[in-house]
Amino acid sequence: MAEAKKLDGAALAVTLRRRISDAVDRLEGDHKLTPGLAVVLVGENPASQVYVRNKSKQCAEVGMRSLDHHLPDDVNEHELLTLVHGLNNDPQVSGILVQLPLPEQINPGAVIDAIDPAKDVDGFHVINAGLLSTGAAGTALVPCTPSGCMMLIGQHLSELAGLKAMVLGRSNIVGKPVAQLLLAEHCTVTMAHSRTRDLAGECRQADILVAAVGRPRMVKGDWIKEGATVIDVGINRVEAEGGKTRLVGDVAFDEAKEVAGAITPVPGGVGPMTIACLLRNTVIAACRQNKIDVPDI
Ligand code: GUN
Repeated sequence: MAEAKKLDGAALAVTLRRRISDAVDRLEGDHKLTPGLAVVLVGENPASQVYVRNKSKQCAEVGMRSLDHHLPDDVNEHELLTLVHGLNNDPQVSGILVQLPLPEQINPGAVIDAIDPAKDVDGFHVINAGLLSTGAAGTALVPCTPSGCMMLIGQHLSELAGLKAMVLGRSNIVGKPVAQLLLAEHCTVTMAHSRTRDLAGECRQADILVAAVGRPRMVKGDWIKEGATVIDVGINRVEAEGGKTRLVGDVAFDEAKEVAGAITPVPGGVGPMTIACLLRNTVIAACRQNKIDVPDI
């Protein structure tokens, strides 16, 4: 069998950002509207700093306003909630993202609850999660990584109805929303997790396999059905030769590519799509808040 098609998330993200940039130009020209994304970082988590920097940079690159707020590690929940309320009421702010994880004195649920659902560009608020799971995804803000996964699947499969999809992992950020999106496309969806029996056997049934468990190279080649579409959400840093480290996914790529029909690499697969989808959500949020038709992006 031929080697799997590589689903190039980096290239697809470039295309998506170009479409977003064009849409932002049109909003500016036709409506004098510049979408704005407020990104809130609490503390000095190095990984979060990198994410936040990339989000702000890409936001500016597509012509949107980027409003960064950096709070100290020892900020209390009340102070953070006060900032969120201020951003909810600021007409320059179309989208709000509070970078997770938060320091332990802050309850992330309380912070997510405080974000205006119309500005919740992460799609984590219960209103957006509820809209997605009741089949009203068209009116929700959909979480970014799951949207990116669906776009990558769409690069290989044009019709998902009736296909068997397996989602490994049940987080609110990836597993649950991606399962809802697959269900909305009429897949028969199974969700597996750490207590699932015969995980390999369950995976082998799947025409579409989405791995979002955070365990390096857990999914082996012989877990994959021949010709399956494999989406690897994992970003795991592992030791490499010469005392270096490297990023690997949740799927053993070298084995999996011999069996799968299409597969996302790590890095360069799902990762770049997440920020592009965040920018897209910010444009969507800005249009809805201003009662402007949402462009097809
Ligand atoms: N931390 C890691 N990924 C994410 C994300 O998608 N959104 C937020 N807010 N924090 C994160």
